[in-house]
Amino acid sequence: MSHDVHPTIEKYPAALRILHWVRALLILGLIAAGWTMTVLDDVVLAKFNLLYPLHKSFGVLVFLIVLAQLAIRARSRLPEPAPLPAQESLLSQAVHVAMYALLLIVPLMGYAMSSSYTDSDGVFFFGIHLPEILPKDDDRFKLFQFLHKTLAYSLLALVILHVAGALKHRYFDKDRRTNVLPRII
Ligand code: HEM
Ligand code: HEM
Repeated sequence: MSHDVHPTIEKYPAALRILHWVRALLILGLIAAGWTMTVLDDVVLAKFNLLYPLHKSFGVLVFLIVLAQLAIRARSRLPEPAPLPAQESLLSQAVHVAMYALLLIVPLMGYAMSSSYTDSDGVFFFGIHLPEILPKDDDRFKLFQFLHKTLAYSLLALVILHVAGALKHRYFDKDRRTNVLPRII
């Protein structure tokens, strides 16, 4: 009788694994850049010449990546859910859904903010001027700005929870079948 000492790990499809890590790097970079550019003094030339345009371009890129990822996900065979205790399984799924929602809403709020601000020079996607869909209105701009900021930092909180969960399953769970990290690497 043979024992399956190294059972084959059921992995996410390669495209989803690559996009997961590319998107993770972009999100952390966008949050770091967003925070830096808002605290930098206005006299620093790089603030409006470099950081704002790059933040907007990469922010739109993340939105497109998430759309692609959701489309690929809908057409793929995904690994069976890990055998987690019911409450942890619910929490992990809720965090995934909430992250996907914010991954779409945060860039949309960024776009709405940049588009509605009276003094904004619009949204450029690596040099391509995207259409301005919203009328200029500084009161709406303030609302979008508040939502963009609050939801971006809420996304960061969820990512921290998500990473803590992945590391807990990797290092602290007794049941080795709940180590989901190899599925996404
Ligand atoms: C900005 C950073 C990140 C975001 C937005 C993010 C988002 C997500 C999302 C939405 C999923 C669900 C995939 C699906 O079913 O479609 C997922 C899966 C996963 N992520 Fe992340 N992730 C990030 C960073 C990380 C990091 C740093 C780690 C590891 C330390 C990690 C570990 C995992 C694992 C292990 C899974 C698979 C979970 C499972 O199979 O049940 N993620 N991630
Ligand atoms: C997932 C994508 C994005 C993330 C995670 C993100 C994150 C952030 C963060 C953390 C800040 C700093 C907020 C503060 O501390 O006040 C910020 C600021 C900003 N973001 Fe984003 N952002 C994203 C996409 C976008 C997009 C697509 C645009 C525009 C097209 C955009 C435009 C801006 C602008 C203009 C600011 C500066 C706001 C101000 O001056 O008060 N962002 N972003």
